[in-house]
Amino acid sequence: MSLIRLENVTKVYQLGENQFSALKGVNFELQRGEMTAIVGVSGSGKSTLMNIVGFLDRCTSGQYHFSGRNVSHLSEEELAKIRNTKIGFVFQSFFLLARSNALQNVMLPLFYRGTPRAEAMEIGMRMLEKVGVAHLAGHRPNQLSGGQQQRVAIARALVGNPEVILADEPTGALDSQTGNEVMDLFANLNREEGRTIIIITHDKEVSRRCRRTVTIRDGMIASEGHT
Ligand SMILES: Nc1ncnc2c1ncn2[C@@H]1O[C@H](COP(=O)(O)OP(=O)(O)OP(=O)(O)O)[C@@H](O)[C@H]1O
Ligand SMILES: [Mg+2]
Repeated sequence: MSLIRLENVTKVYQLGENQFSALKGVNFELQRGEMTAIVGVSGSGKSTLMNIVGFLDRCTSGQYHFSGRNVSHLSEEELAKIRNTKIGFVFQSFFLLARSNALQNVMLPLFYRGTPRAEAMEIGMRMLEKVGVAHLAGHRPNQLSGGQQQRVAIARALVGNPEVILADEPTGALDSQTGNEVMDLFANLNREEGRTIIIITHDKEVSRRCRRTVTIRDGMIASEGHT
């Protein structure tokens, strides 16, 4: 059974009087443990697709099956619950809280789950260790390099033990060396922990390191390749 299965998914944005079709019937399947790149020119619909896959937004029509369950018609509340337990997000611009240190940023998702503080600290430190920045736990984001900030953001995405990691241009703000190191991290999470990973990227180096590349063009899947 596929972990993620989209059937004829569309997304129509309403812009005042006008409508814009950002996704025009996407069929997409992803197995557990896959590491996939999504590529395509700016405006082709990559983030729109990721938002739907990650339960941040709903499709306008079509079906979404997650882990065999039809989630197309779930309420906002039910979607949020799946999102919070199954999905970890990583973004190009990290989105760390400026006034909180690395450990506090990583612990944040656990607060929302009501994890006791001591336990959250322990898990948070373990995640920082995993991504190689435990020694920077007390640093605020402006005291960290871009690569270190992205590691903290990845630790935060991992803290809830998500099955799926969705990353939107995770290396976009990094130099190529640092971007490569972040990709090593994703590759390890995929290989050693079996995490399912989707990475949106413009970078050929990044897509080359994923086993599968899906190209989106004008709101549709244009082609697929395997390496
Ligand atoms: N909230 C919105 N309201 C209206 N139109 C939107 C909205 N979000 C995205 N769009 C439009 O949908 C299309 C797809 O946007 P999307 O963000 O998915 O592109 P993308 O492939 O992620 O591009 P980029 O590489 O620049 O991030 C674009 O034409 C965009 O203008
Ligand atoms: Mg985008």
